[in-house]
Amino acid sequence: MRDKIDVLISEEEVQSKINCIAAQIDSDYKGNSIYLIVILKGAVFFATELAKRMKTPVFMDFMQVSSYGDNMISQGSIKIKKELDGDIKGKDVIVVEDIVDTGITLKSLKELLLEREPASLRLCALLDKRERRECDVEVDYTGFSIPDKFVVGYGLDWAQKYRNLPYIGVVEPKED
Ligand code: IMP
Ligand code: MG
Repeated sequence: MRDKIDVLISEEEVQSKINCIAAQIDSDYKGNSIYLIVILKGAVFFATELAKRMKTPVFMDFMQVSSYGDNMISQGSIKIKKELDGDIKGKDVIVVEDIVDTGITLKSLKELLLEREPASLRLCALLDKRERRECDVEVDYTGFSIPDKFVVGYGLDWAQKYRNLPYIGVVEPKED
């Protein structure tokens, strides 16, 4: 079985969007340092490119949560699989995620992280599937709004496959 993958957003489009988001964050934070929380594994590709383009000093930390198994169905709530290394109290925090789908992951994470009393907390996601939203969560920096299709590439996976595609593509599972 081989899957057919159609390009939805090219590498050039993703990179120019990342430049814009980096510039926007730089202008919002005016040189204050940012504690960037990268959500493993999907946000890694996006977050490292974003951080490289930012002029604002960055401290990077990583967290892994799960709401999905190795399939396309949501399980509803999140579980921490890898905790942050550092303390975010009093820090200006930006959480970087690959995609907002139902919104459950980012909403739950935001509530959990706010209890640790950061100075500020913003959310940033490369992709947004607005049609699928099940809860109210405001994402401060969004790259692209996309239709309700399962996408891979640029860090996003389907059962751990296709993360390293240099573009965002739509998977059409196919027998051959
Ligand atoms: P949410 O909690 O429903 O917003 O789910 C967010 C998480 O679901 C993301 O971090 C992804 O891991 C996963 N996800 C949602 N849609 C897709 C997709 O189209 N491709 C790959 N992963 C996805
Ligand atoms: Mg994810």
